Parts: sequence; structure tokens; C-alpha cells
Amino acid sequence: MEFNVKGITFKFDELEKISLTEIKKETISHAHLFHLLPGMTKAILLLRAGDFVEPSFVTKYVEKGLGDVYALNIINKNELLEFKELWSLLKNASNQKDSFIARDKILNKISMDFWENKEKSFLSFVIASFEEFYFYPPIILEKYQEQSMLLYTRTLLTSSISSIAALCNGFVDYFYIKDLYNSSFMLDYGLIEYGSLNYAMSQACEKERNKPGEGIESLLKLKRPESEITTFKHHGDISAKVAEEYSSLFKYPEVIKFIKFHHEKCDGTGFSNGYFYSGMSDAEVLLMFCDYMIPFSEHIFQKGDGHIVLKSYYNELCKMENQYLIPVNKTMTNWESMMNWFLTKYEEVS
Ligand SMILES: [Fe+2]
Repeated sequence: MEFNVKGITFKFDELEKISLTEIKKETISHAHLFHLLPGMTKAILLLRAGDFVEPSFVTKYVEKGLGDVYALNIINKNELLEFKELWSLLKNASNQKDSFIARDKILNKISMDFWENKEKSFLSFVIASFEEFYFYPPIILEKYQEQSMLLYTRTLLTSSISSIAALCNGFVDYFYIKDLYNSSFMLDYGLIEYGSLNYAMSQACEKERNKPGEGIESLLKLKRPESEITTFKHHGDISAKVAEEYSSLFKYPEVIKFIKFHHEKCDGTGFSNGYFYSGMSDAEVLLMFCDYMIPFSEHIFQKGDGHIVLKSYYNELCKMENQYLIPVNKTMTNWESMMNWFLTKYEEVS
């Protein structure tokens, strides 16, 4: 029998029965968790793969008398370990040559697993990167989850993409990549600083992503409150201000200001500050690339989503209307050429 629950399709045989007490807390779930009703014909989704498992999740269901749940694992634990080992290799590199060797191994695996392979979930890399890099207190993560699950999941994706984009663009300093990850994690936090992300705002974000300049126009057309339009226009600055509160956790706190650039445009018509292409460096536009790569839509972690995130979304970005207005051409060229090179040539020369 096949189940289809909130966009997740699976067969009973794919499920693993586990005790609620076995579930690892305060980390990202490796599996979708279900409760099966008597008769095993209906499944209720309790937690999605990719969601952060708060201790209260387990307590809540234990108190309701639930002992076991059914897990649909979508990642291979060995792959998660491999990515964690690769990040450690970069962290422990003692000179630049070793850093580049580690970089090459990471990009080789990423291009094989996600650029080429169409079966694997990106969640293995997402969890490895989160466990390696995330340094904010849990309150930041919890606020994302409380205010917008869409933004929470999207943030996991953009932050993970930021570390790959950095490697593709020649940045191999482990701590610089870690700081970029955490800057990216705060990219759109300003959208939820004063409340939940409503539908109009989320649509404005997607419109802005598809056609730079459309986001604010769509809010104006809908006659949204002035406060909402101001929040949208200044969310990069608001996000950066919150990240500044944690600047002592950054080794390179200057990367915090990159957050402010993510909606700027080549011709100075972007927001919040109207910078021009010539005023933005390759590093400063990295987070912009990540933001434009990932759609503002619900993402369900599942087998095969790695290829969608890395390649399909990239291909969509290539076709984006007004793409010439965002200064990410060089970042895009490096992304594609590195993915292809590591897929076809790396094994021959290494
Ligand atoms: Fe944004």
C-alpha cells in the first residue's frame, strides 16, 4: 500500500518502527516521522525530515501515551559521516595546498552526489554543514521554525549552498566558510523579526527572486501596510543588525555586512541601499547568488532533491527574467564550470 501524506510518498515497507525515546534531540531530523492509525491505513505526519527536533517534541508525544513512531529515513548515515569527515579535513588543513586538496575532495563528492546523481537527498550535506558550522543560540533556529517553516527550510538550503559557492569561487579558509554559512543563515531573518511571514510577504519574496524589482511593487499593488513594505525593503539591514549582536562568534565579522547586499542590483536600483555592481566584490555577492538559487516555496527533503537543488534550481536561475540585473554572472560561471570539472576531470588527474 502506498501512502501520500503532505507531499511525501512512501510504502509501508520503507518505514522503520522506532521508540520515541531513541530519537536524537536538539538536532535536525534525518527522517520523516509518522504515527500510523490502527489498521495501518492512515499515516499522520509528526515531524518532517530536516525539522529541528526540540526536546518538547518527544515530551509532547510521550505524554500523549505514544511509545513508537514510524520513521521514513531519507539519508544514508554513511554519507552524512563522509561529509562531516570532509569538513574536518578542511578544518585541519595546515597549509593552503592541503586546504585546496580538501576543497577538491568536497566538490568532487558534491558534483557526483548531487550534480550528476538524481537519487540522493541534499539533507546529508545540509545536516553535516549545520552540525559543523551553526553557532547561534537555539532561539534563532526556533524563531524560524515558529514564524515560518518555509523560511526555516529555505534557510537551511541557502546556508548549505553558500559553503559550496564559496568553495567554487576559491574561498578555502574553513573559518571564512563557517562565517559565510552563519551570515547566510541570517539572510532573511529580518522578515520575521517582527512577526510571522505572511502570504503576501512570501509571494513578494518569490516575485523579487523571479524578477528583481517586482517584490516591492507587488506589495504596493496589494496595498499592504506601510510597516510591512518598510520591513520588506529593509529586511537585509534588520537581519544584519541581528547578526551583529553575535559578531563575537565570527572570526571574520566583516562578512556580516554581505547580508545587506542580497537584494542589490547592478544598476543601483536594488534595496536596501542602492549599491551599484562596481561597488560589490565577488565575496559580497556570494550570498546574493544563494538567495536567488533557492525558490521561496515549501521544500520537502526526499530522495533525489539534491539534484533538484544543485542543478535544476541553477538551470532555472540561468533562465530568470532580468537576470542581467543581479551581479552574479561570475559566481554562476564558477558554479557550473566547477561542478562539471569535478564530475568529468577530477578522477583523471587526482
Ligand atoms: Fe531577502
